[in-house]
Amino acid sequence: MASLPINAEVLPEPQTAGGKPLMQVMNERKSSRDYQENQTVTKQDLSNMLWAAWGITHDGKRTIATAMNRQELVLYVVTPTEVSRYNPEANTLTVVNTGDFRRLATLQDFAAIAPINIVIAVDTSKQERAEFQGYTAGAASQNIYLYCAQAGLKSVVRAGFDREKLPAALKLPSNERILFVQTVGK
Ligand SMILES: Cc1cc2nc3c(=O)[nH]c(=O)nc-3n(C[C@H](O)[C@H](O)[C@H](O)COP(=O)(O)O)c2cc1C
Repeated sequence: MASLPINAEVLPEPQTAGGKPLMQVMNERKSSRDYQENQTVTKQDLSNMLWAAWGITHDGKRTIATAMNRQELVLYVVTPTEVSRYNPEANTLTVVNTGDFRRLATLQDFAAIAPINIVIAVDTSKQERAEFQGYTAGAASQNIYLYCAQAGLKSVVRAGFDREKLPAALKLPSNERILFVQTVGK
């Protein structure tokens, strides 16, 4: 087995069974903008929602469809203390920068106090067509919304973030592009 990067955190195994009925969860999905300060999201919930957005399911494929199976999505997690990149194959988060970068992940105050902001980016070298990138990001976002609805967490997807400074805070490679940021909290 390949060794993990030194700054990789192994997440709890995602819980891929059970939960509330899907029809009920779809009915409960909504955007929330009233987050309380100093709340946390458990590592189990984080693992589950990242898997819902971009986990591996069948034959190395994903929880969401991607055009021509290009699998172009890249997810980063912005917390009060660091930014990490999600690696679905190893179920790990690799720290790419330390510090509180939530202010750069939003143009709205509520997201700067929320415990989790998931940056939804795409690898443009895998998929160059904007409409396909948008589909992929949107499908992942919806799965985060649905997971949050079933887990009793609040969420909102946002197109508003600091387009100049957030890429640098994430140390974003030149082939990756941020499409949305999704806030999660209580
Ligand atoms: C592409 C997209 C971008 C959005 N950007 C923002 C945003 O920057 N800030 C925000 O507060 N909400 C944002 N939203 C959330 C919408 O305002 C919200 O989905 C809409 O008001 C409908 O409410 P609902 O999600 O509760 O059904 C965005 C939604 C989408 C789909």
